[in-house]
Amino acid sequence: MSQSLRYNSLAHVRAFREGRRWPEIHRPMVEAVLELARGQAVLDLCCSTGLLGERLASLGFQAVGVERDVEAIAAARARGVTVPIVPMSVEPATLETLTRLIAERQVTVLVARRCFSEIFAARMDWAAVFCRRVADAGIRELFLQGRVFSTRSRHPIPHTDAEVALCRGVFTQRIRRGPVAYLTLEE
Ligand SMILES: C[S@@+](CC[C@H](N)C(=O)[O-])C[C@H]1O[C@@H](n2cnc3c(N)ncnc32)[C@H](O)[C@@H]1O
Repeated sequence: MSQSLRYNSLAHVRAFREGRRWPEIHRPMVEAVLELARGQAVLDLCCSTGLLGERLASLGFQAVGVERDVEAIAAARARGVTVPIVPMSVEPATLETLTRLIAERQVTVLVARRCFSEIFAARMDWAAVFCRRVADAGIRELFLQGRVFSTRSRHPIPHTDAEVALCRGVFTQRIRRGPVAYLTLEE
């Protein structure tokens, strides 16, 4: 499948339904999680149609997603995606709900592909609070993949390194695998 398809392209979920092919765009994240994750229970943050979590579940992880786009969730369900997806917007007002989900499901691994740049762009200060609260709820490992680096970018969180920097004080980068950063709790 073309690497250029967008994350929410219905072509991804159609391909999943027809032949159980997985989106190429998720490959670096999946490989990093397979190689490095110590925990088995994973939260796929801002998961869109849930195919990243579905793929991790097919590899033996216990996955759950959260996503605010209910149309993406419905499109996924209509095409056989079965990973649990909680419809919610990740924001200060819902942080309690998110941390309860993490604690109840004993999730220790947070996977955030191309979503810190969306959640925190308008409120960068909140990232530190978010990291502290998810760590307190049980998250021990964090996999981040940010926007593709571009020298022309004007985005406030333009690439993975900027996402790693937002976590400072709570999580620190241990390993880098291409576009994916692996972080664990700071000692
Ligand atoms: C670039 S997409 C990445 C989707 C998925 N993580 C992937 O890699 O295939 C960003 C997703 O984050 C969702 N999103 C953005 N801000 C959000 C928020 N505050 N709460 C929940 N979902 C959010 C969008 O609806 C979109 O599905």
